[in-house]
Amino acid sequence: MSGPNTDYDPVEVTPLKAEQVEAMREAALTAIAQAGSLDQLKQVRLDHAGDRSPLALANREIRALPPQARKEAGQRVGPARGAVSRALTERQAALEEEHEARILVEEAVDVTLPWDRLPVGARHPVTTLSERIADVFVAMGWEVAEGPVVEAEWLNFDALNLGPDHPARTMQDTFWMDPAENRVVLRTHTSPVQARTMLTRRPPIYVVCPGRVFRTDPYDATHSPVFHQVEGLVVDEGITMAHLKGTLDHFAASMFGDGITTRFRPSYFPFTEPSAEVDLICFVCRGVDSEECRTCRGEGWIEWGGCGVVNPRVLVACGVDPDRYTGFAFGMGIDRTLMFRHGVEDLRDVFEGDVRFTSAFGTEI
Ligand code: DAH
Repeated sequence: MSGPNTDYDPVEVTPLKAEQVEAMREAALTAIAQAGSLDQLKQVRLDHAGDRSPLALANREIRALPPQARKEAGQRVGPARGAVSRALTERQAALEEEHEARILVEEAVDVTLPWDRLPVGARHPVTTLSERIADVFVAMGWEVAEGPVVEAEWLNFDALNLGPDHPARTMQDTFWMDPAENRVVLRTHTSPVQARTMLTRRPPIYVVCPGRVFRTDPYDATHSPVFHQVEGLVVDEGITMAHLKGTLDHFAASMFGDGITTRFRPSYFPFTEPSAEVDLICFVCRGVDSEECRTCRGEGWIEWGGCGVVNPRVLVACGVDPDRYTGFAFGMGIDRTLMFRHGVEDLRDVFEGDVRFTSAFGTEI
């Protein structure tokens, strides 16, 4: 009865010998001890305790042994697997603890650090001043109009009675968009918004338009190829130059304080007739004893912008009946106004984006 079990494959039982099981246990415990991270331990768990690990395979083979051998093998493999499993649990806990300790150090936030030393910047003074200017006019019932900075040549020039031979149309002053035959420019002034407004709405028109304009100017303390203007346009019945003067005096006082009024000097703009340069009473010397004044260089007056009565040719080009309506228009430099108001001496400060410049205006909203 007790012949050798010839059905049993002796190659399969080899791993169940005591020294083999011990070797598997040792290999597993060494690998567990050497696992330096949770990721490594995950791999070690697969290799030494997973379904295809040597000890798991050995355990599966126990079932194929004769009863007596099965018990012995079970007593070897079971404790070995138990030891590996305990070692894994312990190492897992140790590595987790280590991981947490490291995160606590690495990701620590020093809550005692000052939180209020980050420069937050400020709105750009050109923006705040543009809004303030618009407010002056909105308070009188005007509306704010806008137009694109990339503008059709016709609106930038022709509609405003700037004929093809006008000096302002030469390549020198104007940035042309490629390809040149499309006749598209970067607007050289905010005046095309006048044309756009008249073409899209009926009088009465009372609009103000602050915006960016472009010219092929040098970049120095008083020039920049990009700068800002504010345009004003009124078209209504019975509008005269007196309305223009009153409006600009109010605008000047709103910008520079009571008593700062304007004077008109005869000038020429193709889109207005008559036209005038607008001067401000020097807000430093107020025109009194101005010989010593460095701001107005003894003039008592400071140049501020241009204005006039809307040329009937412009009204006609934009579809407004010149027999029924008249209008006035003006255009001022916003950057120039900012420089006057705040004693900015170099125009480049306005465009260079240095936060130390903007921050000085930080409290303006
Ligand atoms: N567009 C003119 C310029 O850029 C400024 C100007 C002058 C605007 C007279 C006007 C105006 O509306 O009436 O130099």
